[in-house]
Amino acid sequence: MKTIFSGVQPSGTLTIGNYIGALKQFVELQHDYNCYFCIVDQHAITVPQDPKELKQNIRSLAALYLAVGIDPNKATLFIQSEVPAHAQAGWILQCISYIGELERMTQFKDKSAGKEAVSAGLLTYPPLMAGDILLYNADLVPVGEDQKQHLELTRDLAERFNKKYANIFTIPDIQLPKVGARIMSLQDPTKKMSKSDANKKAFISLLDEPKQIEKKIKSAVTDSEGVVKYDKENKPGISNLLSIYSIFSGKSVETIEKEYEGKGYGAFKGDLAEIVINELKPIQDRYDELMDSPELDAILDRGAEKANEVASQTIKKMEKAMGLGRH
Ligand code: TYM
Repeated sequence: MKTIFSGVQPSGTLTIGNYIGALKQFVELQHDYNCYFCIVDQHAITVPQDPKELKQNIRSLAALYLAVGIDPNKATLFIQSEVPAHAQAGWILQCISYIGELERMTQFKDKSAGKEAVSAGLLTYPPLMAGDILLYNADLVPVGEDQKQHLELTRDLAERFNKKYANIFTIPDIQLPKVGARIMSLQDPTKKMSKSDANKKAFISLLDEPKQIEKKIKSAVTDSEGVVKYDKENKPGISNLLSIYSIFSGKSVETIEKEYEGKGYGAFKGDLAEIVINELKPIQDRYDELMDSPELDAILDRGAEKANEVASQTIKKMEKAMGLGRH
């Protein structure tokens, strides 16, 4: 069985962008692969976090992973900081990364732009991510499009290590969803939908109330043409909503376009709101149950144990290959 690794940052409630780009894929893939799904809390602290909030967000993300349908008997769900090999591998991989290649990462450029104080961790974020993936010898990494550059760097670092020290890493492939690899902001459809957007109307959180969802979809920026048609260049707003509609309803974009011929945006947005609300309702109900249950801790304990077993073997091999310690 091939291995999958992916991670999500506990840096706020997940959006439907995270759900479509990542979690929805995970649920489908868990049946056919040996899966590791991680709550990457060490990545979250590359920007300032309130300790109380971070702790709450970690628990909430664990509950959401399960609420969307991750089965802990099929996949290993764990918290990155509970598996020390991640930080160890991150350090080693930093030492074979070049500052120039890290400075070229668009996520680093976006997150550091205009900031007076930027943490060194924000720059060395990608080698930590590479460590996450390589420790489990993942064959496949399901992510949204914004992680493509990090995946390419991961492959480069794996090849560099394999060539220079010992051939221990599998070179991982990226797996993007066919539709929805980049869900856009509802307020500025030229920007990615992000859970850290200061404008809360720009994203739909998986835990938003039905009323909020309806309001956000109804106030989503579109155009003045009034024709429901996919045209990413000229109609980015309506095209983004069409993608979301298509993914949540299972209908093709062409079928939806035909259904709304001559109907205008009001009817389309109203129906879309209903579809999104209905998809999220069972997730939200299950989430509420899980947050109060001791089941969550037991699952995370088992996950950390399993992940530690695998990751500690790989880190030993890495250290030995480099001549570290007394291996
Ligand atoms: P993060 O926490 O920002 O996002 C989690 C996942 O959601 C995807 N995503 C999107 N997909 C479609 N449209 C969007 N608007 C959208 N926004 C986010 C992301 O691509 C991602 O798959 N660096 C990663 C976390 C990470 C990781 C890893 C991922 C750390 N180590 C190892 C894979 C493997 C991140 O910040 O994701």
